[in-house]
Amino acid sequence: MKMNFFPLISLSFAQIFVSLFSFSIEASAYTPQDFIECLASHVSYSASLHEPIFYTPNDSAYSTVLNSSIQNDRFFSPSTPKPSVIITPFHVSHVQATIYCAKKHGVQIRTRSGGHDYEGLSYVSYFNVPRYVVIDLRNLSSVSIDVESKSAWVQSGATLGELYYAIGQKSENLGFPAGDCHSVGVGGQFGGGGYGYLTRIYGLSADNILDAKIVDAEGRILDRKSMGEDLFWAIRGGGPASFGIVVEWKIRLVPVPKTVAVFDVWRNMEHNATKTLFHRWQRCADKVDENLTVYMTFQTSSNDSKIVLEANVRGTFHGGVDKLLELMKKEFPELGLQGQECFEMRWVESFLFFNLFRNGESLDALLNRTSNFNMLSFKAKSDFVKEPIPDNVFETMLGMLYEEDVGRAMIYVFPYGGKMNEISESAIPFPHRAGNLYMIHHLVKWEGEEEEEKHVSWVRRLYNYTTPYVSENPRATYFNFKDLDIGTNNLKYEGGTTSITQASIWGTKYFKNNFYRLIQVKTRVDPTNFFTNEQSIPPLLRIE
Ligand SMILES: Cc1cc2nc3c(=O)[nH]c(=O)nc-3n(C[C@H](O)[C@H](O)[C@H](O)COP(=O)(O)OP(=O)(O)OC[C@H]3O[C@@H](n4cnc5c(N)ncnc54)[C@H](O)[C@@H]3O)c2cc1C
Ligand SMILES: *[C@@H]1O[C@H](CO)[C@@H](O)[C@H](O)[C@H]1NC(C)=O
Ligand SMILES: *[C@@H]1O[C@H](CO)[C@@H](O)[C@H](O)[C@H]1NC(C)=O
Ligand SMILES: *[C@@H]1O[C@H](CO)[C@@H](O)[C@H](O)[C@H]1NC(C)=O
Ligand SMILES: *[C@@H]1O[C@H](CO)[C@@H](O)[C@H](O)[C@H]1NC(C)=O
Ligand SMILES: *[C@@H]1O[C@H](CO)[C@@H](O)[C@H](O)[C@H]1NC(C)=O
Ligand SMILES: *[C@@H]1O[C@H](CO)[C@@H](O)[C@H](O)[C@H]1NC(C)=O
Ligand SMILES: *[C@@H]1O[C@H](CO)[C@@H](O)[C@H](O)[C@H]1NC(C)=O
Ligand SMILES: *[C@@H]1O[C@H](CO)[C@@H](O)[C@H](O)[C@H]1NC(C)=O
Repeated sequence: MKMNFFPLISLSFAQIFVSLFSFSIEASAYTPQDFIECLASHVSYSASLHEPIFYTPNDSAYSTVLNSSIQNDRFFSPSTPKPSVIITPFHVSHVQATIYCAKKHGVQIRTRSGGHDYEGLSYVSYFNVPRYVVIDLRNLSSVSIDVESKSAWVQSGATLGELYYAIGQKSENLGFPAGDCHSVGVGGQFGGGGYGYLTRIYGLSADNILDAKIVDAEGRILDRKSMGEDLFWAIRGGGPASFGIVVEWKIRLVPVPKTVAVFDVWRNMEHNATKTLFHRWQRCADKVDENLTVYMTFQTSSNDSKIVLEANVRGTFHGGVDKLLELMKKEFPELGLQGQECFEMRWVESFLFFNLFRNGESLDALLNRTSNFNMLSFKAKSDFVKEPIPDNVFETMLGMLYEEDVGRAMIYVFPYGGKMNEISESAIPFPHRAGNLYMIHHLVKWEGEEEEEKHVSWVRRLYNYTTPYVSENPRATYFNFKDLDIGTNNLKYEGGTTSITQASIWGTKYFKNNFYRLIQVKTRVDPTNFFTNEQSIPPLLRIE
């Protein structure tokens, strides 16, 4: 293929250029049948596999497959836009065929790995509705561990639970830094960062990627060497959905002790809460021994028909319970952590613990692709904190939790520091490094469609109130906690345009200045913007 190399405009001028979203579309009206016929003629089936690899709304299994990994009921309603075809490849050639046929028929592709996208962007397209398909990678989920070289190849459609399980089968001393929810997909999480209990020691998932295989807009399978370092940089935190379909990742496995110590405790916050518990946490959580990671969540609950505020405090320590208690007594005495609240277990078993498998389930439970957390319908936003929030301000934020239904509104805080301070802002597209004490996750859940507006406006109000106390210029946001409130591309099927200026509003919140480098990569690898969504990186208009 001839590469489209053309002079890249110096970044300081980037904002004046407009990028065009254009497809080469066949003149004829699209019917899913055209796409399917194309697919069928370009897919080779192995004799032993009789399963269909695509589903249309005419197939009885269509809605089961579509619904299977939807995590947010907000995108579960009959009125939510639905793809005209769902493709479930079990071979990389099926991914290539999908891209080929989608291009041929002017069809847009949404790629889904675990389906946990906060705005449903892996299966919902708010524009171009009749003309989009979903490629669901659930069957590209193999994991192959090489203990000797401390590395693994994992396919994007694997869940974190499947990855952790496979690591645990092969080794007691190896782990991988990623999130704690076992049903999250590798594809979305690695591509957007990947924060978890190992992050303060080893960084994000995306910091520990050694190689990857991506199918690009030309249908080529590229690895690190053939894709080039700029594209390899971009897909580690910059969201691969803008660049292609990543089918597989090579990851660096990291050392973990034979056992870790964990806890998950609830504390009533009625008395002096913020002045004691949170006041201390803000000042110690990012600075303590990186072997200790302590998350906090605040929410209301009812006790004897009284609504009370509670803090859930969860942690992992690389060491024994004795040492953990000693450290907690020194660093976080206000929690009053007790020995009987702490447990020692294998690193892989800690994911059973944090996913609430606490009835002696075997590790197999991690292979269940359904989450144990009922997320209902939810809307979330995120922030980065650089200076401790004043106690009275946080008190007011906590007070706002009472405005929502009991237990449905949450403020989560995740500590930074440790390894996160050592990695430069531009090492990968994820830029939130030294200078951040912690990340806030504001979230509200509800049931049913009716009251969406009310709940969404609550979380917007909380976010608005928090403005003066968090990062600014830009107000930073975590890409994996996707939020369309911060701006979207102006997408129309034909002739929709988005100025780089407009995209930079959300782009710099997620990526700071790395956004402009992502534009350069996009312009090189996908100049016609074949891979596009509401918050995909736009290419620069080609200058002839
Ligand atoms: C219950 C829950 C818990 C979570 N916990 C954590 C946590 O602990 N730490 C953390 O960092 N994040 C966490 N997240 C956020 C999570 O990391 C992101 O939502 C992530 O993008 C989900 O990945 P997925 O594959 O499941 O999502 P999907 O919805 O499948 O994909 C997300 C995005 O990535 C794109 N994409 C997916 N796969 C590919 C691919 N192979 N190639 C190209 N593009 C692709 C999709 O098109 C979409 O835009 C959590 C989310 C939920 C719902
Ligand atoms: C679905 O069924 C309808 C009615 O039988 C038919 O017209 C249409 O072509 C079918 N669509 C596909 C994609 O098979
Ligand atoms: C999938 O979800 C939709 C929307 O909630 C619902 O109408 C449909 O019955 C579901 N299908 C299955 C098989 O669960
Ligand atoms: C594809 O995935 C489904 C659901 O996870 C599973 O039932 C099926 O056996 C898989 N097919 C192949 C070919 O792996
Ligand atoms: C409230 O906090 C102050 C310190 O901020 C502390 O001295 C006092 O003991 C606390 N009271 C209770 C009831 O915890
Ligand atoms: C963290 O644990 C590792 C291994 O158990 C140890 O080598 C290291 O010194 C610990 N870090 C700190 C800051 O104590
Ligand atoms: C309910 O409140 C009582 C009295 O304050 C307390 O002892 C108990 O632990 C609380 N229960 C829960 C589930 O929080
Ligand atoms: C998987 O988990 C879900 C949710 O907890 C549960 O309903 C289901 O029974 C589990 N499936 C298996 C096979 O254990
Ligand atoms: C956000 O806060 C500012 C100042 O505190 C206020 O003027 C504005 O109306 C608020 N916006 C919303 C949407 O609440």
